[in-house]
Amino acid sequence: METPEYKTVGIVGAGAMGRGIAQIAAQAGSTVLLFDTQAAAIEQARAAIAAQWDRMVEKGKLPADAAAGHKARLLPAATLAELESCDLVVEAIVERLDVKKSLFAELEGIVGEQAVLATNTSSLSVTAIAADLQRPQRFAGYHFFNPVPLMKVVEVIAGLKTDAAVCQRLATYARQMGHTPVQAGDTPGFIVNHAGRGYGTEALRIVSEGVADFATIDRILKDQMGFRLGPFELFDLTALDVSHPVMESIYRQYYDEPRYRPSVITAQRLAGGVVGKKKGEGFYRYDGGSAQVAPEPPVPQVAEMPPVWVSTRAARRAELYQLLKDLGAKIETGQSPSPQALTLVAPLGFDITTVAVVERLDPARTVGIDMLVDDKATKRRVLATNPATRTDMRDAAHALFARDGKAVSVIRDSGGFVTQRVVATIVNIASDICQQRVCSPQDLETAVTLGLGYPLGPLAMGNQLGPANVLEVLFNMQTVYGDPRYRPSPWLRRRGAIGLSLLHEES
Ligand code: NAI
Repeated sequence: METPEYKTVGIVGAGAMGRGIAQIAAQAGSTVLLFDTQAAAIEQARAAIAAQWDRMVEKGKLPADAAAGHKARLLPAATLAELESCDLVVEAIVERLDVKKSLFAELEGIVGEQAVLATNTSSLSVTAIAADLQRPQRFAGYHFFNPVPLMKVVEVIAGLKTDAAVCQRLATYARQMGHTPVQAGDTPGFIVNHAGRGYGTEALRIVSEGVADFATIDRILKDQMGFRLGPFELFDLTALDVSHPVMESIYRQYYDEPRYRPSVITAQRLAGGVVGKKKGEGFYRYDGGSAQVAPEPPVPQVAEMPPVWVSTRAARRAELYQLLKDLGAKIETGQSPSPQALTLVAPLGFDITTVAVVERLDPARTVGIDMLVDDKATKRRVLATNPATRTDMRDAAHALFARDGKAVSVIRDSGGFVTQRVVATIVNIASDICQQRVCSPQDLETAVTLGLGYPLGPLAMGNQLGPANVLEVLFNMQTVYGDPRYRPSPWLRRRGAIGLSLLHEES
């Protein structure tokens, strides 16, 4: 085993996070001293970690002698003073600025001058915690994710006075622990919790407008974009007592920046105790641990399918034509639809009503389809009606697009459907993180894929869908909603033409 960057590591706080960090630090070959104000917590943590190693030995993932070595290096500290010999101390105690500041003030009097001090805070400012330290240059954020051994990314955060060499060493040590380090500036939410704002908040906004229900939005984002969990499944798993305060905190810390605006839906559910899976009820009800999901509406039976006319301004028009041919539709090719025709529009960012009015189409026969994502790459098609759409036209469109067995969701009119809105918001927030130089574009992509489990990094997602398309969605949504939250980040505007490819990033 290579010599660890820090030979002796102190961990303060033996809760969920502290024990995970202690485990991987011992696995990296460091001697680990574990301290907690609750003596029982230290012993519980050591027993739990030892049990993990025993399981790894049983599964053949860890040699028995290595496990014995790890256990021998994981030691309890009866007092904080016993951390005197540590080269690094990582704090994972209660999330309170005053308590963390007094802990580090005390630690400064205990450890040697060269020792590095780090906080695992997820929401406090690293600079603020270090404010009264005598040597703030040796202090940094070291933000791990729960459960630490499985979530293999750590944000290394430089406070205003942190020495760059300290961050480099913490990054080296992260790699020795089997983790991928990313470097972040000391900004609200750092990288992962900041980049994660788009998915849930935009989904909540769609629900709050009555465009679609929770389960439909979850289905659409999983099937169209390959997210492992829908936003409401994710809220239920994380629980609103954790995620709603994070949404509020980042919004407030950015002085009410509209992009991060939380929703009254989660505020009310939190107040009512309907927080998620751990309580048996969140957006879904849980029976024996599994979510109870209402079945999807059936595909309507349509006796006679009307001919179909496609707007000349439809996104991916050629692909939409081919799709209609493959589905056996009677396609009209005239300049305008015949009086019988189902009229299809495929806008980016605009709502169906606006498109029908601007293109002088009969709204009663107009239905929209989201063509942002290549149809071949999705497992679901999403249609939208406008308030005037006749039910026979809606049913005809639903039945037509379900002919080959692909799932179809029909939602109400909304600028940007579901996927366009959520993905454009994710890409826009990610672009703003780059704009603010919170981190490099590469670290952003790494942090989001490892920390949030998205199928692609947000910039790669934007590239795949076409940066100009994403920009068009945002520009048009700004027009539809008149809401500054859809204002494109300058970083994204500049890359609308050249792509979000990381090669194009200026130094
Ligand atoms: P936890 O409540 O499971 O554990 C905290 C432990 O710290 C407890 O055992 C408590 O007895 C001990 N403690 C409290 N004050 C202390 C003090 N002054 N000195 C020594 N020990 C003290 O909390 P958890 O979830 O492990 O979180 C710890 C820190 O990690 C917090 O700052 C939190 O924001 C951060 N964090 C938590 C994540 C999570 O998902 N739970 C993710 C990333 C960061």
